[in-house]
Amino acid sequence: MRFDVVTLFPGMFTGPLEESIIKRARERGIVSIYLHNLRDYATDRHRTTDDTPYGGGGGMVMKPEPIFAAVESILGGEEGVPVILLTPQGRLFTQEVAMELARHPRLVLICGRYEGVDERVREHLVTDEISIGDYVLSGGELAAMVIIDAVTRLLPGVLGDPGAVFEDSHARGLLEYPHYTRPAVFRGWEVPEVLRSGDHAAIARWRREQALRRTWERRPDLLEKAQLTPEDREFLARLREEKKR
Ligand code: ADE
Repeated sequence: MRFDVVTLFPGMFTGPLEESIIKRARERGIVSIYLHNLRDYATDRHRTTDDTPYGGGGGMVMKPEPIFAAVESILGGEEGVPVILLTPQGRLFTQEVAMELARHPRLVLICGRYEGVDERVREHLVTDEISIGDYVLSGGELAAMVIIDAVTRLLPGVLGDPGAVFEDSHARGLLEYPHYTRPAVFRGWEVPEVLRSGDHAAIARWRREQALRRTWERRPDLLEKAQLTPEDREFLARLREEKKR
């Protein structure tokens, strides 16, 4: 999969994209990440990428010409590639959106800065707008890195355990069950007996119930969309009864 990132600050990406899982995915050729400095596409003498807003008011607005030039040069006429603007006004990024994006062979990510980008970029260039949460960052760079990370780890061959992404929190609409490793007793705190029992059916049941309990306690909103079996519903009903008592 190929990512092309349009940014005024390519230097921000070097640390996060050169460590750990993304580093390995790049080395294995599973992802390629190209960083494009927007300033290189500004044509005036001062390489201007922003200007004051029509109508007055504070702040600066990113000019349309360099952004159009960058994206058109990057795509070279290729069609069907999502061109995504990172903005707090976009649709909310979720695990579901990550899975959707992972199905594309190629993505272009545009990192907004300042007060925003000229509206004509949204109207005539961009095909999608994504926000990573209801807060305002100083620019789209961190958001682009979040998307690259969440999408890359879903690609086949990136994680050691190919089943892991299906067990993740949010992958099936629930938060994940708790994890333990050695030692069996740490400062007097024991690992739950069932996990040491070797009874795989009992372990699977325990994990499912823990995931349900956790989601019910922390993110009950997720239960409305999760796919639940009749046993899951019974367990949740029992939790509700328990709480009433
Ligand atoms: N740019 C500024 N804030 C952002 C957010 N929350 N998500 C995506 N891009 C942004």
